[in-house]
Amino acid sequence: MHSPHLLSINDLSKVEILEILDTARELARITDGSMKKLPTLRGRTVVNLFFEDSTRTRLSFEAAAKRLSADVINFSAKGSSVSKGESLKDTAQTLEAMGAELIIIRHSSSGAAQRLAESGWVKSHIVNAGDGMHEHPTQALLDAFTIRNHFPEHDRDFTGLRIGIVGDILHSRVARSNALLLTALGAKVVFIAPPTLLPVGVEKWPVEISYNLDQELSTLDAVMMLRVQSERMSDAFFPTEREYARDFGLGTQRLKALKPQAIIMHPGPMNRGLEISAASADSPQSVILEQVANGVLVRMAVLYLLMGGASVPTEGVLV
Ligand code: CP
Repeated sequence: MHSPHLLSINDLSKVEILEILDTARELARITDGSMKKLPTLRGRTVVNLFFEDSTRTRLSFEAAAKRLSADVINFSAKGSSVSKGESLKDTAQTLEAMGAELIIIRHSSSGAAQRLAESGWVKSHIVNAGDGMHEHPTQALLDAFTIRNHFPEHDRDFTGLRIGIVGDILHSRVARSNALLLTALGAKVVFIAPPTLLPVGVEKWPVEISYNLDQELSTLDAVMMLRVQSERMSDAFFPTEREYARDFGLGTQRLKALKPQAIIMHPGPMNRGLEISAASADSPQSVILEQVANGVLVRMAVLYLLMGGASVPTEGVLV
């Protein structure tokens, strides 16, 4: 990776995306046996700086750092001096004074990670773990890693794969990062959503647009269902939850329309019964828990490449 930070998929070339995915695969291979930990980041300190709630991203970054033997400081805005008015600058500098060398930040403001990286407030590497409605680059990387595992014939290139991203595109940093990454790898991406849940200017994105899930289902190799982000909705974006589920939910009936080898994805957390039925989430075609497991590997690769080294480790460094 040429940049000291990971802020956006736009920071990465196709070669760098493949470098991260290959490193994650190699890390999976060498930690697959009984030896789970690598000494690569021993004595180094990583901070999880989370101003928004998270289960998967925060815990998987923590697991990733620990598997590389780094020390981890977890900061959650809830219960911190942020409630007393402490700024992002002072919070980050305080954590760096405690030894932070890499800061993983999640924030409700789009651009917060970039601001921290470009401000000069801290010298740490910065990793964007989700900034407002902007980007979630490590989610897109773990999604690509998961897709690649299921379509090994597309190991270096996703040309020929058609991937549907369905639902609340408007509020989704996952959709934006995936659109950038999957198209960079050559996939065709189709956003499938009601017009009210598509962002202004979406026609300039490198994606197809559809308003009809049923028309698309049989054409897709992967269907990525997005969470309806009610907490970001101040207005009504659809008439009722029942109508949303009927038109844009991956209900049990729609499972039958999928190609047999198509995979069902969801970044989590899921609203079961709204954007995805329990039967779909738990079906044999669902790879949702694989996505979670792959998140640890991909985040290990990101930490390793930003802090550790330039080449993939070998068995010789296992502890
Ligand atoms: N996919 C994702 O970002 O999940 P969390 O909000 O639980 O981290």
